[in-house]
Amino acid sequence: MSQPILTLDFLDIPAPTPEAALSAEVRVSPATRTGRQRKLYIESYGCQMNFSDSEIVSSILFDEGFDTIDTLEGADLVLLNTCSIREKAEQTVRMRLSQINGHKKRNPGLLVGVLGCMAERLKAKFLEEEKLVDLVVGPDAYRDLPNLIREVDGGQKAVNVLLSREETYADITPVRLNSNGVSAFISIMRGCDNMCSFCVVPFTRGRERSRDAHSILQEASDLVAAGYREVTLLGQNVDSYKWASADGAEHVNFAQLLERVALVSPQLRVRFATSHPKDITDEVLYTMARHRNICKFIHLPAQSGNSRILSLMNRTYDRPWYEARVVAIRRILGDDCAISTDMIAGFCSETEAEHQDTKSLMEHVRYDMAYMFFYSERPGTLAARKLADDVPLETKKRRLQEIIDLQQQHSAERNARAVGRVHEVLVENFSKRSQEHLSGRNSQNQVVVFPKLNFRKGDYVQVFVHSSTASTLLGEAV
Ligand code: SAH
Ligand code: SF4
Ligand code: F3S
Repeated sequence: MSQPILTLDFLDIPAPTPEAALSAEVRVSPATRTGRQRKLYIESYGCQMNFSDSEIVSSILFDEGFDTIDTLEGADLVLLNTCSIREKAEQTVRMRLSQINGHKKRNPGLLVGVLGCMAERLKAKFLEEEKLVDLVVGPDAYRDLPNLIREVDGGQKAVNVLLSREETYADITPVRLNSNGVSAFISIMRGCDNMCSFCVVPFTRGRERSRDAHSILQEASDLVAAGYREVTLLGQNVDSYKWASADGAEHVNFAQLLERVALVSPQLRVRFATSHPKDITDEVLYTMARHRNICKFIHLPAQSGNSRILSLMNRTYDRPWYEARVVAIRRILGDDCAISTDMIAGFCSETEAEHQDTKSLMEHVRYDMAYMFFYSERPGTLAARKLADDVPLETKKRRLQEIIDLQQQHSAERNARAVGRVHEVLVENFSKRSQEHLSGRNSQNQVVVFPKLNFRKGDYVQVFVHSSTASTLLGEAV
C-alpha cells in the first residue's frame, strides 16, 4: 500500500492522465473548530498510508491542544507528511518547504515540521541545511510528537526517526480528515518486508507488522455507528497480514480478518489495498465471493510483464505466476471483479522486447485501471546499489506514454461495458459539477453520477447507467 501504495489516491482519481501519473497527490487538512488553542495545518503527500497517518497525527495533537485548519495562514504549526517513492515526489516537497519557509520569515513564531517517508533519509539535511525546519519525525515516532513539540517550544530543534518493530498505533482513534462521512481508511499493518529492488518503502517505513485484529474490528464498528458505510483496509501488502493474540490462542490471517470486517455490518462496504501477487490466496478470493459487501475490486500491481525484469525487480513471482493469479480471480469471482495494476516503464536494462511484454500482459489482463510510472532510481535501494539505471530518460518517457495510451483504450472499453446495466452505487457526495447530481462508486470502484432526487450521502442506490465519459459513468436511479 502505497499506491504508494499509491502515490495517487486510486479511490478518488479518475482514469490517469500522463500528468496525474507523474505527480503525487497532496491532501490538506480541513478545519476542525473545537476551540483548541493552537492551530495545526497538515499537508500529506504520497499514498493512502500517509493520509491515514496524518489522521493519527491529528488525533495525537488534538489531545495536545491543536485544532486543524485548512490554510497555512493562521497556523501555529505546519507539518508536511512526505513521500520518497520517486524523485519527483521529493522535489515537490522540497519546493513546498521553501515556500513555507518564505511564509515563516514573515511569521517568526511559526513551527515547521517534516513527517513521513523523507524524514529518516533527510534528517541531517533538513535540520542543518534547511535551518527553518524545527522538527523531523519518522512514521513510527508520532507518539513522541507531544514531547518533541515541547522541545521545540523551548527553542530547540527536535528529531525522532526511530523505526519500530511493534508500533501500529492500534489504540489511537484517528481524527477523520477530508472525510465525506461515508468512507474511511483503516490501517491494518505497517512497514514492508519485501525488498523489491526499486522500492524505498522498506527503508522509510521499516519492518512489516500487523495490527491487533480486535482494534481493527472495533474501529470498523465505531465507524458504522458514526454513519460510515465504507472502509478500506490499508497496508503495503495486506495479504501477508498475520496477527496472533499474546497468549497465542488466536491467529488471524488476511482472509479471516476480511471476513470478520465484512460481518461487522451488511451495510458496510469493505475494500482493501494493496495485494501482492505472490501472497493473494484463493482463500481471500473465496471470502470475497461469499460476502456481497466486500467490493469486487483488486489492486494487483504487476510492475512488468516480463519475467527477467520481474526477477531483477525481486518481485518473487514471474509472468506465468501472475497470469495464474488472474485466472484464479476470474474463476472464483467471474468477470465482474475489477483488477487494477501499477506498472514501471524503463526499469534497469529493460529492452524494447521486454517493454512489449508489459504491453502484452496489459492486453491479456485488460486492466480496469492502472497507475503507471517511469523508473526513478532511489538511493540505498538494491537496484541503486547493484543495477545500472541505463534506459535513457527519453526512452522511459516514450515507453510510459505507450502504456498510458494502451490503458486509456482499456479503461474506455471497461466504461462501455458498464453502460446499459444497473449498478449498486454508494453515494459519497454531490457531483463536482452540479449540486443537482450525486456522485458515488459501484463495487468495481467506477465513479457514477446521477440526478439527486431525494437521495443522500451514505445511501445505496440502484442506478441504470446510460452513458459514460472518459472517467465517469452517467445514469439515473431506478
Ligand atoms: N506495496 C505496493 C506498492 C507500493 S509503491 C506493491 O508492492 O505493489 C506504489 C507504486 O509505486 C509501486 O507499485 C510502483 O509501481 C511504484 N514505484 C515504487 N518505487 C518506484 C520507483 N523507484 N520508480 C518508479 N516507480 C516506483
Ligand atoms: Fe510494495 Fe515491494 Fe515496495 Fe514493499 S518493497 S512496498 S511490496 S513495492
Ligand atoms: Fe507511501 Fe510514499 Fe512512503 S508512497 S509509504 S508515502 S514513500
